[in-house]
Amino acid sequence: MKRITIAIDGFSSCGKSTMAKSLARKIGYTYIDSGAMYRAVTLYCLDKGIIAPDGNIDETRLRDCLGKLYISFIPNRLTGSPDTYLDGVNVEEDIRQMRVSSQVSRISAIPFVREALVRQQQSMGKNKGVVMDGRDIGTTVFPDAELKIFVTADAQTRAMRRYNELKAKGDKANFDDILHNVIERDRIDQTREVSPLRKADDAITLDNSNMSVKQQDEWLIEQYRKAAAEDNDRKD
Ligand code: DC
Repeated sequence: MKRITIAIDGFSSCGKSTMAKSLARKIGYTYIDSGAMYRAVTLYCLDKGIIAPDGNIDETRLRDCLGKLYISFIPNRLTGSPDTYLDGVNVEEDIRQMRVSSQVSRISAIPFVREALVRQQQSMGKNKGVVMDGRDIGTTVFPDAELKIFVTADAQTRAMRRYNELKAKGDKANFDDILHNVIERDRIDQTREVSPLRKADDAITLDNSNMSVKQQDEWLIEQYRKAAAEDNDRKD
């Protein structure tokens, strides 16, 4: 079977990465979390003061630093999933903190940040055999992906999932803050000028509000089988 490209887009905290990771593991593809790349740049900006305490972003400094930042993914033998590294340092935990979540939509709305990261994402997926999740994978990064999924779920359900995730890790979490963050990120992601979050015309929608992880995994593998078989027929 020829390898295809799988793009999974959708709203924040929809469980995209859980389903993308699980699919990649089952079919032996590489999983790439494009959101983690925007988060890594945001963490860098917070740590280096490029995002000032008053929220101001020094775009000139960010532009200078961006070309020198090295983001990579290295498999974690314990979790079986790739961890995000920034300049050789594992930042997988740090990029999930609320301080990063609350600034990442602003950083990812900057056109030159998107251009740089989209280029890296395209290069990471150039040999196919990737499952990449994000907001603009099916529309901008891989518009020719053989399988495109657009995931959605209602905001309350998504906030509760993120709340439970943080609690399970022992982090402090306030449900109302998280819900507010989810709604605000939806707004910024959908209204930004460059590559706003939208469903690609040829994407299949999955509303997983009332689905278990197992049901969603089964649904996804079925979509993969169909898309891979169609691709095989087309090219033979
Ligand atoms: O998937 P996530 O919540 O980790 O993504 C973090 C942020 O990055 C999200 O607010 C939107 C942005 N993002 C983006 O603009 N484009 C992508 N391809 C992936 C994420």
